[in-house]
Amino acid sequence: MADSATAGVITVRVGTTADIPAFRALGEAVVPPTYGPIDAAYAQRMLDEWWVPERFEASLAVNAHLVAQHEGRVVGMAAFGRLSRSHRDFPHVIGDREVMWKLYVHPDHHGHGIGSRLLAEVEAMVEGEELWLEVVDGNDQAFDFYRARGFREVERVTDREWPDDIWLRKTLAGAR
Ligand SMILES: CC(C)(COP(=O)(O)OP(=O)(O)OC[C@H]1O[C@@H](n2cnc3c(N)ncnc32)[C@H](O)[C@@H]1OP(=O)(O)O)[C@@H](O)C(=O)NCCC(=O)NCCS
Repeated sequence: MADSATAGVITVRVGTTADIPAFRALGEAVVPPTYGPIDAAYAQRMLDEWWVPERFEASLAVNAHLVAQHEGRVVGMAAFGRLSRSHRDFPHVIGDREVMWKLYVHPDHHGHGIGSRLLAEVEAMVEGEELWLEVVDGNDQAFDFYRARGFREVERVTDREWPDDIWLRKTLAGAR
């Protein structure tokens, strides 16, 4: 499936605050086509609340970030950490869990293995025996991607105003 968009070497490295402008640009490229067809207002809210410099600064302080780079440009990113360190409230969740908060690849580079590689790196770095993540109901491409990589649906969080979140969990290979 390789074409000129992703011909060449992809490098994966740890993300820092220097990447924040590139994270924002990635969000502007990938959030609208991902969530716009599900709920355009929700897509805008995501960009406004979660893809802004102050959120990335807060996230970089408590979560691990990985960056996929192609010819010097950021084409994908992943962020993960413990739920208990999140700035969000999760009244429905009992206990703590290791969560991948973001996995995003630029649309020009989808389908070339970057998402799979970032996910594999996250799984190798996670300290616990499980990895959790949320998928927005209706994001079927991501849902299928995670299902094909061993994640299973565990619970659904319903919010009458916004699309549901579906929590997925994977037991990691190193788990005892
Ligand atoms: C989900 C996502 C991270 C996957 O990243 P990716 O680099 O495209 O993933 P890969 O190339 O490793 O694998 C993509 C899979 O979709 C298939 N695919 C085929 N054509 C594709 C295309 N045009 N675009 C995306 N995937 C395609 C691939 O063959 C592969 O299938 P497989 O499971 O049978 O191997 C990426 O598509 C993305 O950023 N989506 C939008 C944002 C999003 O929804 N993120 C998840 C939030 S929970």
